[in-house]
Amino acid sequence: MSGNLCLNEGLRQKTASPDMGRTFSEGSMIRLLFLGDIVGEPGRKAVINNLPDWKKEWGIDFAIVNGENSAGGRGITSKISIDLLRAGAAVITTGDHVWDQHDIVDYFETEPRLLRPINYPDGTVGAGSVVLETQSGIAVGVINVQGRTFIQPPLENPFRAALAEAERLRSEEGVQVIFVDMHAETTSEKIAMGRILDGKVSAVVGTHTHVQTADEQIFPGGTAFLSDAGMCGPLESILGRSIEPIVERFLTSTPRRFPVAKGVVGVRGVIVDVDETTGKATKIERVVEDVE
Ligand SMILES: [Fe+2]
Ligand SMILES: [Fe+2]
Repeated sequence: MSGNLCLNEGLRQKTASPDMGRTFSEGSMIRLLFLGDIVGEPGRKAVINNLPDWKKEWGIDFAIVNGENSAGGRGITSKISIDLLRAGAAVITTGDHVWDQHDIVDYFETEPRLLRPINYPDGTVGAGSVVLETQSGIAVGVINVQGRTFIQPPLENPFRAALAEAERLRSEEGVQVIFVDMHAETTSEKIAMGRILDGKVSAVVGTHTHVQTADEQIFPGGTAFLSDAGMCGPLESILGRSIEPIVERFLTSTPRRFPVAKGVVGVRGVIVDVDETTGKATKIERVVEDVE
């Protein structure tokens, strides 16, 4: 386990969303929203402008977003983090682009709701997990972890790191509802993570490829799973970037700049319903929402 911040009871924070709706979420069920990699200004505007309404409309108790590409497609800044949190994200996860904006390193010291992958070595700034409470007082644990195949930098064993942290959250902090963002390139690593954590966390959802998969399911132990949530970014694009320079790069092998694309933004993610007393998922549904 590496550098994870262990927030104890005293440090748990209430998520500040006075208008958090419970349209569909009642009784012992908690409804989580997770949105995949937010790409550049188009992606973050779509999320920031609409998240408060979506939370009400969809009855979301707790929203998590992956912000690793929210600053011009590369990393995240402190200002963008604040904007996303103010818009109603309870937690922001990241991935391999976490350090691309230099100001974020110091900001990690001050903001426990911004996560970097948990399997960084001991001593790395920031944390890979956090426990917060919903407005109704339900503790939710979020773990961010990164794969090691076709992705940089090489980090510590993600399976052992996530497993140990899930067990710690359950046994030491008494947290039942746990969401895992598995930031990885390969579906095999993501599915393996889901299977390893089945019955130990509420959901394992992949990020990083920017392409939503259609394999949402609940594993036998009660863990909701989706290989990749997809991105929140321009649809007419290649993974959120303008098409033409990437095509040119592939055709000519010449270095190019890859600006973030424009136009209609596809917002992609999942909604997971979890029994708050057992931590088991009861439903997983993909979010497919296009924003003009
Ligand atoms: Fe990534
Ligand atoms: Fe990404």
